[in-house]
This record gives sequence, structure tokens and C-alpha cells, in this order.
Amino acid sequence: MSASSRSARPPLTQLPAWQALEAHFGEVRDTHLRDLFASDPNRGERLTAEGAGLYLDYSKNRVTDETLRLLLALAREAGVEERRDAMFAGERINVTENRAVLHTALRAPRGATVNVDGENVVPGVQEVLDRMSAFAEQVRNRTWLGATGKPIRNVVNIGIGGSDLGPVMAYEALKHYADRGLTVRFVSNVDGTDLVEKTRDLDPQETLFIVSSKTFTTQETMANARSARAWLLAGLGNADEGTAIARHFVAVSTNAAEVEKFGIDTANMFGFRDWVGGRYSVDSAIGLSLMVAIGPEGFRDFLAGFHEMDEHFRSTPLEQNLPVLLGVLGVWYRNFFGAQTHAVLPYDQYLAYFPAYLQQLDMESNGKHVTLDGQAVDYDTGPVVWGQPGTNGQHAFYQLIHQGTTLIPCDFLGFCQTLNPLPPHHDLLMANVFAQTEALAFGKTEEQVLAEGVAADLAPHREFEGNRPTNTILADRLTPRTLGALIALYEHKVFVQGAIWNINSFDQWGVELGKVLAGKIVPELQAEGEPKLAHDSSTNALIRRYRARRG
Ligand code: F6P
Repeated sequence: MSASSRSARPPLTQLPAWQALEAHFGEVRDTHLRDLFASDPNRGERLTAEGAGLYLDYSKNRVTDETLRLLLALAREAGVEERRDAMFAGERINVTENRAVLHTALRAPRGATVNVDGENVVPGVQEVLDRMSAFAEQVRNRTWLGATGKPIRNVVNIGIGGSDLGPVMAYEALKHYADRGLTVRFVSNVDGTDLVEKTRDLDPQETLFIVSSKTFTTQETMANARSARAWLLAGLGNADEGTAIARHFVAVSTNAAEVEKFGIDTANMFGFRDWVGGRYSVDSAIGLSLMVAIGPEGFRDFLAGFHEMDEHFRSTPLEQNLPVLLGVLGVWYRNFFGAQTHAVLPYDQYLAYFPAYLQQLDMESNGKHVTLDGQAVDYDTGPVVWGQPGTNGQHAFYQLIHQGTTLIPCDFLGFCQTLNPLPPHHDLLMANVFAQTEALAFGKTEEQVLAEGVAADLAPHREFEGNRPTNTILADRLTPRTLGALIALYEHKVFVQGAIWNINSFDQWGVELGKVLAGKIVPELQAEGEPKLAHDSSTNALIRRYRARRG
């Protein structure tokens, strides 16, 4: 994207649709969902959309037809479609890093063409997928042997951020399809406890480490990889170091030089390119641990689900376009109602890590305060994203969503079929999805409470205001394909919002300062004598106290 096309757009708050939405908000802000449903008996069927196996009911949102018309006009005026097409076409829309953004090429079919600077990148993607498949099959059929001749039975992914959250989330989500004879674990935290606890019951002779890092320089990952190497060599006794590393370590990275420096043969490296952002990389070689667990065919199904949603996003009119609808509804609450957070509530135990995964996807992408041109925004950008699986959350934080003083839009995710039929569990689970969204939307009036015989002085405590917005996303069954579609749905929702806010959703400079400062502090903690500390008085005192008391 050129500098001129970057600045071609008027500021967001000066777009006609934005200004119309401001006026419109004043008219509808107090309209209750009870009235919206009462005046339109078909609302619950009309305000729905479907794509890539996902059904979205967005009728329980505080919107009228006019609101939706204006929100979609905003998306058009903000250039969402042009920006989307530029992304798919391989333009360098990540302007602060001068990179294309092409996670969509990772799931393009084998024969597709996606050009970056004149090169069709699809054959390269497919070549890596084929090499990953051959490797995964060897581990799965137990012909990948460790240095002492024993087959590998334990696979430990070492990575952090996008090199961990995607693989661990997707592995947990698709465990039902995994080879249960393999133990698959994920080490991310630089806290040594993570590595120690995840390896304590593993036999080094049967353990393979996948070191996953786009840069292969990330402090946490490299520290864990070095300690894993030491653990392995100690556990293998007098095995030849070169053979041990070759049989027990593989790498996933864009940085062949650093992989070699670590001692991993680049024959055992699976690559990807700089146009894959860390938080968009679970469908690249970063998904190797997942592929080992669910098999190459399952992984291809996973990619097919992403691709189906990509095509939906690319070609469906905005009015029926799932990521666009979720995106503009989020903008409505964030920028007009002032909602600060957004909850994602999967009613499926396998999706326990999905909210954590979305936190990085959304907050690292849209936690930005300047436009593409570097101007400070005068509107809010990304919300705090959070959540945990239902029904557990109901007994923890839902009270505040129902009766607190802050508006929290929620996405409820559920499946019509369970992977673990154990009557009546699934009906109980899904009854809660429907009950929660009904209660949040319609509440319970004081008259209803009094009619139930509640004493007048208790009635205010028992009244539910309602009018709390929710989306419900239903799929038939949690499969690799459905999960791929679900992830792509949120990737593109984040994209739509970033495009409207005119920010760069694909860099993450905000995590740099802390990394740099930690790099300076490490030698101060490890220095022999009293180090010369030149921080603020708080940081100096904390470092001194730590040094004095760490034992
Ligand atoms: O947290 C910053 C970040 O750069 C993420 O964007 C990325 O997913 C993570 O660190 C890990 O980076 P790498 O894959 O290079 O180790």
C-alpha cells in the first residue's frame, strides 16, 4: 500500500456514515431489545447469516435496520473492501514493517496463485506442507526413532505468543481427533516451572522437541530450548550430541541462520515467510505439533475450513458477511456505547483456550493508538477481549454481565452435536447458551419480580434490566474444518475493525520496550558484585531487594 493510498481516506470521524451514526445513536441508545423483538416477530430469523458451516444469530444486538445500514455504510466508506482485496492480492499492507499480509495464502488450494512481488507463493507453502506431512507420518507411525532407537512418543512444542497459543489452542480443541498414544505438550513460559513440570514424567529417549519461533531469537523460547537440550543430553547419558539433536529436535522458523546456530540441521527445519504474522501462524508450519497430533489429513481439513471462511469474507455481500457483521457490531459498541471489553464464551470444554488465543489475535492486532499515517486516533480502538468456557463462567463473572454497571457485549459459541455423547449433558450445556442470551436480552422487569411474590424492598435486587447484547454462533460439530473456519472468522473480524479504525493490525511494536528493558536488566541480576543501577528509584529498589533475598 503506497503512502498516498494510506492517506487518501478522510479521518474516521469525518466520514458521513460515522456522523450519521452519531446522530442515530442519540435516537436508539435507549431502545430495548424487548421492543425490537416485539415489533418484528421474525427478527430472530431475519438477523442471521451463515457461512463456512457457521450460523450467526446477531438479532440480540441493540441495532435497528437503520443501524445496520449505517454500520455497513461505514465499512464501505472506510474502505474495508479495498483493504481486504489489497490483503488478498499480496500488497504490502503492513506498512510499518513493509510486508505483505498473506496468512490466506497458507490455506489456498494447491493449484491457486497468490503473487508476492511477482512470485507465486503457493507452491512453496505446499512444499512445506508436504514435508511436514512426511515428518508427521513418521512420528505417527512410530518410525521416527530417537537417538537410542526407541520410537518418539512425546512431542513438546516450545514457543510463545503466536508460536504457542495457536498450536496449544487448536491441539486442545481437536484432541478428540488426536493420536492418544502420543503425549503432546506445550512449553511457553520462561518460568522454569513450565519446562520442568511438562517434562518431569517424560522419557528423554522417547521425546521430541519442536522449537517454534518465527524469529528464533525470542528470549523465552531460546531459554527453554537450551534447557530442553540440556535435559535431553543429561537424560540420554553418553549419546553423541549431534545425533541426539538431530533425532530429538526440529525447528519451525523463518530464520535458518539462527536455527543452524542453535545446532538444528536445517534439513529438520520447517519454514514460513515474513508475510505470516505470529498471531496468524497456526495454519503455517507453526501448526506442526497439531499436524503430528491429528494427522496430515486432519490438518488439511483444518486449512480447508480457513479457506472456506476466506472465500466467504472475500465474496459475500457485506450484509451477509460474517466477519464484517461481527466487526461492525463491535465498532458500534466500542465507539458509540463506549464498551471497553468484549467477552467470548465458548460452550465447549475443548475450546477452553480459545479466549486466550483470541486475546493475542485481537489485542496485539488492534491495540494501537495511531492511524496508518501516524496520527493519534481520536476514537477508541481494540477492546479488552476475555472469556472462558461456559458453563463455568456463569458461576464466576456472569453476575456482572447481567446486573453490573458496565456493558459487555458477548459472543456465545456452541455446537449442535457433542463429540462425547453422555446424555443429558449436551442438552444441559446448550440449554444454558440459549437461557443466558435470552436472559441477557430480555431481563426481568420489576413488575414480573413483584408478580412472583418478591417483597417490594427486594425487588430491585431481583430485577434484570436486560438489553445486554450478544451474538450466538452455532456450528453442527467441532471438527478440524469448523475450527479453521471459526479462527478465520475472528481473524477477519479483527481485520475489518482495524480497517475501519485505520490502524495497522499487523505490527506489534508495543511489546518491544519491555523486551529491550528486560534484556538490560538480566545482566544486572546476574552480575557478580553490586551492579551500577541507573533506573528509577522504584526499579532500582526492586532489583536490590530481589538480589538480596533470592537465596
Ligand atoms: O509478543 C510479541 C511476539 O513477537 C508475537 O507477535 C509473537 O507471536 C511472539 O512474540 C513470538 O515470536 P517468535 O515466533 O518470533 O518467537
